[in-house]
Amino acid sequence: MCAVKAPPSYGYAFVTSHRFMPTGPLTGHIRVPGDKSISHRSLMFGALAVGRSRISGLLEGEDVLATAAALRAMGARIERDGEDWVVDGVGVGGLLQPETALDMGNSGTSTRLLMGLVASHGITAAFTGDASLSKRPMGRVIDPLSTMGASFTPSPGGTLPLMMEGMQPAVPIEYRLPVASAQVKSAVLLAGLNTPGFTTVIEPIPTRDHTERMLRGFGAELTVEEKDGERTIRIHGPADLHPCDIEVPGDPSSAAFFAVAASIVPGSDLVIENVGLNPTRDGIFRVLAQMGANIDKLDEREVGGEPVADLRVRHAALQGIEVDPEIAPSMIDEFPVLFVAAAMASGTTVTSGLDELRVKESDRLSAMAAALSASGVTLEEREDGLVIEGSGGDPLRGTANAPVKTHLDHRIAMSMAIAGLASQGGVEIDDIEPIATSFPNFAALLEAASS
Ligand code: S3P
Repeated sequence: MCAVKAPPSYGYAFVTSHRFMPTGPLTGHIRVPGDKSISHRSLMFGALAVGRSRISGLLEGEDVLATAAALRAMGARIERDGEDWVVDGVGVGGLLQPETALDMGNSGTSTRLLMGLVASHGITAAFTGDASLSKRPMGRVIDPLSTMGASFTPSPGGTLPLMMEGMQPAVPIEYRLPVASAQVKSAVLLAGLNTPGFTTVIEPIPTRDHTERMLRGFGAELTVEEKDGERTIRIHGPADLHPCDIEVPGDPSSAAFFAVAASIVPGSDLVIENVGLNPTRDGIFRVLAQMGANIDKLDEREVGGEPVADLRVRHAALQGIEVDPEIAPSMIDEFPVLFVAAAMASGTTVTSGLDELRVKESDRLSAMAAALSASGVTLEEREDGLVIEGSGGDPLRGTANAPVKTHLDHRIAMSMAIAGLASQGGVEIDDIEPIATSFPNFAALLEAASS
C-alpha cells in the first residue's frame, strides 16, 4: 500500500492506492457486514420512535455513521452498547433544529431520506457532502418535498450544499415516481410520517422495499397495493412509532463481491453466511445463476423480517448473457461487479436500461468502462449500458502503469479489486479509502477467504 498525492479536485490531501494481486481459491466461511439500507433505516426509524430501540448487526460504515451523526444533531441519542447499538428516539414531530450543517459525506441515502424527514418538521437544515455527493441530483427529492410545502435553496443544478426549511404541518400528496428510486420513494414516505392524512407514492417499477417493511414493524399505518406490476404505497400521518429490536441481515450488495470472486477464481468454494435475499435486492444472484454460476442457498430463514440464507459459491465457467433491463432495480448497485463477472465469462454480455448508473457515487458506466478497458477487457460503452466481451475464463491482463480511477466510489474500488484477483499482473486502484463507506473490513475478509 502506498500514499500518493491526490489530484486537487478530490479535495483531500492524500489518497491511498493499492494493487490487488491474483490469488488462490477463495474458501471457508465468511460473514459480510450488515445491510446498508436497513442500517440507515434502523437508525432513522429508531430516532422517530418514542423510547429505546436496539439494533444488532448495524453496518458501521461511514455512510451509516453520517446518518447517526445527523440524527444526533437533531436530538436523538444513539450509542454503541457492546456489540449492539441503542437509539433513544424523539418521536415523530420531535426532531430538533440542528445547530450546524449536516455533513452527509459520500452518502446519497442519508441525504435523500433525511431531507424527507426534515421536510415535515418545522426546522431548517443545511446539507453538505463530499465531492462525489455534491455532484448528485437532488431535484428528484426536492420536487415532491416542495409540493408538500418544504422550501429549498440548493446549489446550481439542484445539488449539495443546500439549505432547506421544513413545513409543519406539511401537505399530503400523491406522487408517481418518475425514476425507479427507493430513495425518492422513501423520502416522500418519511415526510408523510409527520404529515396529517394520507401520503401516497405510486411506484411503476418496484424498488427495494425496506422502508415499507420496517415502517410497518415500527407500527406505522402503511398499506401496499399491487396491480399490474405497479405498487401503490399509502402512509397515514402523523404516525406513532414504537421502538423495535432489529437484527440487520448481511448486505447482499457486499456479498455480491465475494459471490463474483468465488465464481471467477478457479478452485473456490466459499460460504457467505447470513446474506439478505429480499426479492427486491437479490437480482445479482439470479443473473449470476443465469450465467452458469454455482450458488446454493443453504439454511433459508428469516432475520429481522427479511429472507436470509447462507450462500455456498463454487467456481464455475460463466456464460455471457443479455441481462433483462427489468431486473435492474433489484441489483442496481451490483452492476459494477457484474461487469467483472461478464469480463471473465465466455461470449458477450449485453446490459441496457442502466441510465441510473450514471448518477450514483460516480458515473458507473463510464468509470467501469475505463477501468476494465485499462485492465485489458474489450467492451463498448453505450448510453444506457455496457457490452462486454468475456475472456472465456482466462485471467484479465491487469493494469500496467496508471492505477484505475475510482472517483470516490466504493463499489468501483471493490469491483476492480475483484478483477485484480482474476488477473495476470494485478489491478492497481487509485484510492481504496471510499471502501470504508459501506464495507470497512472488505480487505481483511478478502485476505481471510483467500489464504
Ligand atoms: C438505496 C437505494 C438505491 C441504491 C442505494 C441505496 C436505499 O438508490 O443505489 O445504494 O437505501 O434506498 P436509488 O434509490 O437512487 O436507486
